[in-house]
Amino acid sequence: MDIETLANLSREERRFAPPAEFAANANLTAVAYEEATRDRLGFWEKQAERLTWDTRWDRVLDWSNPPFAKWFVGGRLNAAYNAVDRHVEEGAGDKVAFHWIGEPADDARSITYSELKDEVCQAANALVDLGVQAGDRVAIYMPMIPETVVAMLACARLGAPHTVVFGGFSAEALASRIEDCQAKIVITADGGYRRGVPSALKPAVDEALAKLGSRSAVDHVLVVRRTGQTIPFDEVTDVWWHELVASQSVEHTCESFDSEHPLYVMYTSGTTGAPKGILHTTGGYLTGAAYTHWGVFDLKAETDVYWCTADVGWVTGHSYLVYGPLINRTTSVIYEGVPDSPHKGRWWEIIEKYGVTILYTAPTAIRTFMKWGDEIPAKHDLSSLRLLGSVGEPINPEAYVWYRETIGGGRTPVVDTWWQTETGAIMVSPLPGVSDAKPGSAMRAIPGIVADVVNDEGASVPDGTGGYLVIREPWPSMLRTLWGDDQRFKETYWSRWEGMYFAGDGAKKDEDGDVWVLGRVDDVMNVSGHRLSTTEIESALVSHPKVAEAAVVGANDETTGQAVCAYVILREAAGDGGSDIVQELRDHVARGIGAIAKPRQILIVAELPKTRSGKIMRRLLRDVAENREVGDVSTLADSTVMNLIAVGASTSAED
Ligand code: PRX
Repeated sequence: MDIETLANLSREERRFAPPAEFAANANLTAVAYEEATRDRLGFWEKQAERLTWDTRWDRVLDWSNPPFAKWFVGGRLNAAYNAVDRHVEEGAGDKVAFHWIGEPADDARSITYSELKDEVCQAANALVDLGVQAGDRVAIYMPMIPETVVAMLACARLGAPHTVVFGGFSAEALASRIEDCQAKIVITADGGYRRGVPSALKPAVDEALAKLGSRSAVDHVLVVRRTGQTIPFDEVTDVWWHELVASQSVEHTCESFDSEHPLYVMYTSGTTGAPKGILHTTGGYLTGAAYTHWGVFDLKAETDVYWCTADVGWVTGHSYLVYGPLINRTTSVIYEGVPDSPHKGRWWEIIEKYGVTILYTAPTAIRTFMKWGDEIPAKHDLSSLRLLGSVGEPINPEAYVWYRETIGGGRTPVVDTWWQTETGAIMVSPLPGVSDAKPGSAMRAIPGIVADVVNDEGASVPDGTGGYLVIREPWPSMLRTLWGDDQRFKETYWSRWEGMYFAGDGAKKDEDGDVWVLGRVDDVMNVSGHRLSTTEIESALVSHPKVAEAAVVGANDETTGQAVCAYVILREAAGDGGSDIVQELRDHVARGIGAIAKPRQILIVAELPKTRSGKIMRRLLRDVAENREVGDVSTLADSTVMNLIAVGASTSAED
């Protein structure tokens, strides 16, 4: 974030105190901060009691071999039992777990806890038939349909860690994830709906497996029929969900697993080309997801209708669409499609129809709605809403205030929640019944979490100063390692300062000590709340036969937060690349990673700015991409290079 934005943030003086009634009934009060400070581990033990354990732990935390933590040591439990079965056993079987809404109008289904339990048991039995055992990995590549949640829970029930790959990722991205975790089964669908049109998924699985050949450990592909479109189907490896799952018994006795048994692997972008497999385990992760979902969203399970708009292919979908809400016996909404299909008021229509009380979404969506105009939400009764949440990237104060006023009618607290795939659960956030929220600030570490902002030496910075956001003490839902790469885990997160987890974000403590997250300080971009690595996109570009070299930066973007801007040097043999070169390269990136990684802008240039040691100076490229005066060029090997790039920039195509 630049100096100007920083200065603007520090001028932000609006404060929003919780409404009195909200504060009086809040799940978490100021006392929780004191309690957790006095006895942090005792506080977490209390939170772990939200779960039903077959065997209670005998030690809260084993931190004898940092950074490898063990939480609730000796405890045993089953994740799916906690999410589903116990609610049915306690008499809540008829409560709706999910109101699922398909993208095509009138395509909807409400699923009770007892129906969900039956389907999860059937799917678990089906997976057993396919040879899945505890510890086996299962890849899930699905649209936002109920079967996706059922598939995740069936895996969890069997102790088979799932790895959900976002349906927007390409065959290539899917292949690298299937290979890295050596998945045994892939669960997918023929396709999903996207803006009213069936969009195929299964062919990407076939392509991924063909590409991997003998490097794949996949025995079977289980396919849900969602769109009914024609897809290739192999009678030996492919199995229809409706044939195998529907015929299974609804009885399945689940086993309990060690608290540290792997629950899932979620791949996310790092600073190198290879995505990192973030490993989350069972007891601690579920404790973190359930506690934060209850506390930060002030969940009243009996009356709330909760909607997290994230795709289940991201960590937000895991913690706040599946595990947190189900553990807390919530009634949630799941929506399959995009916000503007069939019209731009679709979300508000859903909120009105289902009486949604809590909405959790991303700043990029909020900014898009702002752009579309106030008259669209104004056509709907949104008075059921009582709390709004934001996640995934810094929310600018204007978007925050718009969200609060236009969607929340000026009465709803807004929680700006900072966390990461790695942290598993919300870490820094206002408490809706306690905090005098400041638009743009994630405020303070929630009770139980010890966060800080430090300088280059790792020393805590005084109030009113910027630095790096770190976590000083282990927490239950922390990642345990990177799948198959303990060394990279240590180096990436724990090597910068002794004993501290470094998240990769810059932050500022204001005069009151409240935290303002400023965004990544590494080569990771945040586009529409999704993490993308500059290196990963550069590698995708360089794999094109016409490309010699590429440099990628994230430039500020009014709607998506950051946008991908690529600078490309073509190979000599490619000449000027042809008139469609920009489109060709954008499509190439989409094939390599997924449509979300498509550069907004590609500039064909003759040179790239490099230091004498050959490092690309992305800072200068960001200046160009953001139409700023180019900064200090004194460390460039050739200081005239920027003139060439500026010329290139003004003449290049953009779409
Ligand atoms: O840069 C921070 C940003 O998103 C990153 C984590 O991305 P990911 O692992 O994909 O998880 C997204 C959903 C939790 C962080 O390093 N980020 C997330 N939430 C916020 C945020 N930046 C500012 N404010 C937030 N509330």
